[in-house]
Amino acid sequence: MNAGQSLAPQTLVPPMNCDALAPFYSILEHISFGPFLERARFKFLPQLHDSRRALLCGDGDGRFLARLLQENPTVEVDFVDLSGRMIELAAGRASNLGPAFRNRVCFHHCDIRDFSPATPESYDLIAAHFFLDCFGETDLRSVIQLFSSWATPNAQCIVSEFREIPAPPARYISRAIVRSLYAAFRLTANLRTTRLPDYPAALQTHGFRLQQESFLLHGLLHSSLWGFEA
Ligand SMILES: C[S@@+](CC[C@H](N)C(=O)[O-])C[C@H]1O[C@@H](n2cnc3c(N)ncnc32)[C@H](O)[C@@H]1O
Repeated sequence: MNAGQSLAPQTLVPPMNCDALAPFYSILEHISFGPFLERARFKFLPQLHDSRRALLCGDGDGRFLARLLQENPTVEVDFVDLSGRMIELAAGRASNLGPAFRNRVCFHHCDIRDFSPATPESYDLIAAHFFLDCFGETDLRSVIQLFSSWATPNAQCIVSEFREIPAPPARYISRAIVRSLYAAFRLTANLRTTRLPDYPAALQTHGFRLQQESFLLHGLLHSSLWGFEA
C-alpha cells in the first residue's frame, strides 16, 4: 500500500434479491395490474415460432418461459436470473409441462453481467420482460452491449416495460405509478435503481432496430419487438 492510501471500507451495495418476493410475485401482479402484464409479455409470442436458441433475461417465475416452450416445440433456452427462488419456480413450471419441455432449458443462477454463453453469437431470441428497468443508464448500456455480442445476425429481441406516458395529465399518473413500483421493489427486493432507463436508445446504439411495438393500459405498458442488424 502506498503512503496516503487508506483502508476505508468500500460501500458495497448488495444486489437486488427477489427471493422473498418470488412466491407472491404472480398474485401481487394480478392484484395490481390484472392480466395486462401477461398480455404485454405474450404479445409477440406468435412471431417467435422460428427461434432456435433463446436467452431469457431475468425471467422471474417463468411464466413467459412456459408459454415459449409450449408455443415453440424446438427452441432451446438459457434462463438467467439472480434469484434462486425465482429459478426454482420457473424450473417447477417447466417440469410440470413434462421432461421433453424441461430438458430444453438450462437455468443459470447469476447476474446477467457475469453470464457467458457456451458460444459467441448464440441467440436468435433475447427476451427481457420487466428486466431492463432494474438497471441504471450505465449498467443498462453494458447489458445491451452484451446482448449485441450474443445475438446472431437477424436475431429478435423482445422487451416489455412500464413507461411514463408523454402527455399530461396521464404523465403525472404514470410517473406516480412507476415511482411507487420502484419504491415497492426497493423495500421488498433491495432494488437501488429509481427511474426507468432509456432502453430504446441503448438498443438502437447497439444495432437493434424497432420492428413492432404495442401499448397497453393507455400507454403505461410498452411491448416491443426488435431486430438485430449486426
Ligand atoms: C421485476 S422482475 C421481472 C420478472 C419477469 N421477467 C417478469 O416479466 O415479471 C426482475 C427479475 O430480474 C431478475 N434480475 C434483476 N437483476 C438481474 C441481473 N442483474 N441479472 C439477472 N437477473 C436479474 C430478478 O431476480 C427478477 O427475477
